[in-house]
Amino acid sequence: MALSSEVTQVLNEQINKEMYSAYLYLTFADYYEDRGLKGFANWYEIQAKEEMDHAMAFRRYLLDNDFKPTMEAIAKPDKAFESDLEPLEAGLEHEEYVTSLIHHCYEVAHAAHDVRTMKFLDWFVSEQGEEETNARDMITNMKLFGCDPKGLYDLDREYQARTYVQSTSLNL
Ligand code: FEO
Repeated sequence: MALSSEVTQVLNEQINKEMYSAYLYLTFADYYEDRGLKGFANWYEIQAKEEMDHAMAFRRYLLDNDFKPTMEAIAKPDKAFESDLEPLEAGLEHEEYVTSLIHHCYEVAHAAHDVRTMKFLDWFVSEQGEEETNARDMITNMKLFGCDPKGLYDLDREYQARTYVQSTSLNL
């Protein structure tokens, strides 16, 4: 059964939104690298890789359903940061926005009675819950421990330990 034009449109747009997320997180990584906080930079570089995986999963799903996606221009992230907390707050705000986009995709698929696409989107619905929790935890940690140099050093070490693992649930 072919995907409806409404479904292909929102899924195609989501490729772009996920790639923008990767761009945005690279600007966070660049900010922290410049600050000498290589652990925070590492965390966001890995986050950017995960966002690219999300984009590729949407692309692959469209291709596997006989739809040729269009690669639109990716917007330039233009935020300037003045404190180590600001990227973390911008990260939570962005993830809440992405959650709203994923939920919209789900609603469009539901309206089209597109059970296959709803099932595909299930993973992203759960993933958004995890990403919002991570973003909130990073803000809490920074507020609790980041104002003290030793606390900030320990946090940076903790984020340095994050390693990239490609999700086996995604068909890339
Ligand atoms: Fe792909 Fe962070 O949402």
